[in-house]
Amino acid sequence: MDGVSNPARRLRFGGIAALASALLVGVGAADDYAPSNRPASRQEGAAQPLSAVAELGRAIFYDRSLSSSGKLSCAGCHDPAHGYAPANDLPVQLGGPNLDRPGIRAVPSLGYMVMTPPFSVGPESAAEVEAPQTPATMAALAPADAPAPIAGPLAASLTGQPKAAAAAPAVVPQGGFFWDGRADTLEEQSIGPMLSPFEMDNANADAVYQKLVRAPYRSEFSRLFGPEVLADEKRLLSEATFALARYEFEEPSFHPFTSKFDYYLRGEAALSDGETRGLNIFDDPKKGGCAACHLDKIGKDGRFPVFTDYQYEALAPPRNRAIPANADPNFFDLGICGPLRSDDYAKQPENCGLFKTPTLRNVATRRAFFHNGVFHTLEDVVRFYVERNANPEKWYPRQADGTVNKFDDVPKRYWANIDFVDPPFDRKFGDPPVLDDADIADLIAFLNTLTDGYELRK
Ligand code: HEC
Ligand code: HEC
Repeated sequence: MDGVSNPARRLRFGGIAALASALLVGVGAADDYAPSNRPASRQEGAAQPLSAVAELGRAIFYDRSLSSSGKLSCAGCHDPAHGYAPANDLPVQLGGPNLDRPGIRAVPSLGYMVMTPPFSVGPESAAEVEAPQTPATMAALAPADAPAPIAGPLAASLTGQPKAAAAAPAVVPQGGFFWDGRADTLEEQSIGPMLSPFEMDNANADAVYQKLVRAPYRSEFSRLFGPEVLADEKRLLSEATFALARYEFEEPSFHPFTSKFDYYLRGEAALSDGETRGLNIFDDPKKGGCAACHLDKIGKDGRFPVFTDYQYEALAPPRNRAIPANADPNFFDLGICGPLRSDDYAKQPENCGLFKTPTLRNVATRRAFFHNGVFHTLEDVVRFYVERNANPEKWYPRQADGTVNKFDDVPKRYWANIDFVDPPFDRKFGDPPVLDDADIADLIAFLNTLTDGYELRK
């Protein structure tokens, strides 16, 4: 097949983002490749088969032979049965030749991450007030027949709740893949885990290439991209990462929109009283205030919310002593400031300690929370939000002199970056808790409505 007439190649330019815009404006070339994630409540829209390129991506995603151990595929850490997050509750996963090298960060869910816009630093208002920043992909993925937003608590605002004005710095980092945003596209992203010594641990790109040209699916590369691709290391790697990105984009289970909350948004399911109270707490700036960052409204154009604004914050969760790297008192994971990111943004002190706001879709299926996996229950996460300032002694260790070692995972010189302004982080030491036990239970009940695979009662 010649490279020009192959739709996979035509869509190559600009990667998934260009593809998504093509879908948005209805450019014909994209037709064969329209994403197949029709909402599950519309059974007539049965899942379309994956494109051949995405099928190749699936084979790569599940291929354990691409790791130095021979035992670890992408799915080994991003388990489809657990929202594409780990099945276990380890704060960091183990990789390397003997599957005993710990990573430094919790594995994020891959669910809904195709909507992630490229990394940028820009005015907050543009992101908060305009529709989400990856409109194209999101529009392509949103149910075509999504109803107009329904009456009720959600009708109040369709554009997301602006954060407290005082909290808005002139510019904020947003978008990008990984907790620190260091990769701009999925294609750029996927070579990372193959090379990381504590993940799939290939010595270099050539080692990955040598494995791909021996893989059972090698003939698919030549069939799809032309026989010469097998001899061209750079191109083969680029097609492999492209295929992975296609798979993550097309495979419906990466973004099914089948949670109870989605059915509620479609007017097909009702939330219980507790879940409704939880949603109100989530939205209410004087209570949880969660929706300021974990956006939960249908967009003006009918896009369903993904529960993140993709912006970066320093929440200063406690240092996780279960991560071996943290045994070194001089080691700090500073998010955008490294150690895994090293561009110009990584050198700007105002970015130190900032991590990307994760989606809360399927969050109740996770077993380690925050970038360092320090918490293992949603209750601990919520109590940390509520008590971080008012009762820091509950969350941070004491120093030899008895004082509380607050924000012990952020060096003091970066404390100015820590979020003290967005509710519920505006509490003062000794303030009464902003949420009581019943509120916390309701909030967690609401978070449980974000788990995909809800069985709609007819
Ligand atoms: C050993 C466990 C492990 C394996 C194997 C692994 N990952 Fe990951 N993945 C992680 C961790 C940890 C992160 C977060 C790293 C960071 O933020 O620096 C991550 C992040 C990602 C992200 C970014 C998600 C987001 O929301 O920003 C994508 C996409 C991803 N991985 C895809 C893959 C693919 C594709 C493969 C196979 C080629 C793979 N991963 C293999 C552990 C793993
Ligand atoms: C100012 C923005 C902001 C607000 C407000 C906010 N969050 Fe978050 N949330 C974040 C960021 C950023 C992270 C990741 C922090 C990290 O890992 O260091 C996060 C992480 C989480 C996680 C862990 C998810 C995971 O995959 O590890 C949960 C659960 C969560 N938030 C729930 C809530 C709830 C519930 C509220 C309201 C009480 C809330 N958040 C309010 C920004 C925010």
